[in-house]
Amino acid sequence: MSSPFEVVVGMSADDFFKHYWGKKPLFVKGAMDSAKGVITADDLAGLSCEVEATRLIQKSAAGWDVRYGPFDDSDFADLPENNWTLLVQEVDRMDEAVNVLLNSFRSFPNWRLDDIMVSYAAPGGSVGAHVDKYDVFLIQGEGTRRWEIGLTPLKDPPFLEDLELRILKEFVPDQVIEAEPGDLLYLPPMFAHNGVAVTECITLSVGFRKPLVSDMVASYLSEMLSRIDPEHQLVHSLEKSVEDPGLLDFDTMESVRSVFRSLLYDEESVDDWFGRYITSPKRGDGWEGDDEEQSWNPDNVAAHLSSGSGFDRIGQSLCSYQKAPGGSVRLYAVGQVFILPSGIADIARIVSGVGPITATTLGKLASNDAVCRLLARLVSIGYLQPE
Ligand SMILES: [Fe+2]
Repeated sequence: MSSPFEVVVGMSADDFFKHYWGKKPLFVKGAMDSAKGVITADDLAGLSCEVEATRLIQKSAAGWDVRYGPFDDSDFADLPENNWTLLVQEVDRMDEAVNVLLNSFRSFPNWRLDDIMVSYAAPGGSVGAHVDKYDVFLIQGEGTRRWEIGLTPLKDPPFLEDLELRILKEFVPDQVIEAEPGDLLYLPPMFAHNGVAVTECITLSVGFRKPLVSDMVASYLSEMLSRIDPEHQLVHSLEKSVEDPGLLDFDTMESVRSVFRSLLYDEESVDDWFGRYITSPKRGDGWEGDDEEQSWNPDNVAAHLSSGSGFDRIGQSLCSYQKAPGGSVRLYAVGQVFILPSGIADIARIVSGVGPITATTLGKLASNDAVCRLLARLVSIGYLQPE
């Protein structure tokens, strides 16, 4: 049976990875009927008044203007009829119908998935010709957008100067595509593109990510630093007199090296840090976090499951797990870790995976206290939502 991703790209997932992923653009006509009209411009404007991760980009004779949200009604009141775009990140976490579209993109590890950004553009609206550093699937939700794309990746392209937006100084497209509702365009990183709204239109971008090594190192080292006793001194015993006082000898350097060895080569600390780091919300807003009202207890969970209802995932990119020695697992969700013994380890695969989370799929686990406790926590931190 074809996976939902295969249905969208019109080929086997393995063929897609072999021939397109990271290599070349792919346009699929009528790939996702479910995206047609999935969110309205009014809904998007409403969300942009609630979150910070939103931008309004306008092009006029004076040049490009970028404003950052949250917005209010007055921001929309004086906009012209043409040439502007509203972008909102992480709409998958705030809108159920948009979240469901992610089910077609689960042939990827959760940690590589970022979010669904939604843009509304008035006719002529565009964010300029640019490149992105990440892979993206652009799905047309409403109206028509004309995509001008390059068919070879750019290495280090020059950008227009003195602009907040990184718009390419030069761009001669190799191909022009008109995307209509349900059409999908896949673009690998560094392929130039310029999407211009032909009519009022809505485009959904399923974005992927790879963390920056500099961010990873900064995060890991700052966590390690917080664990070190500020009073703790370098271990160095001086047991006899030295003849060569200027020499930093082998024993001295070994004691220095051992500090860094224990910091950098402690694999368990690195693994655990990465699990929490990669499942932490990146942008802060659009994420409910620990919510009193969402607070569930194991009894609620057990009753909910036995009534035949299940749980939906929100922010699928924020849950992953690691196998640990002895069959236990470490489950990471929204930056938190849950250590699960081997007897209930399967729950990690189920909650971070693809299928429904119901009494049927949980089987024996549905009546396990520790599992119900875990599900209650996952509801409270906002990863799961009761159906
Ligand atoms: Fe882009």
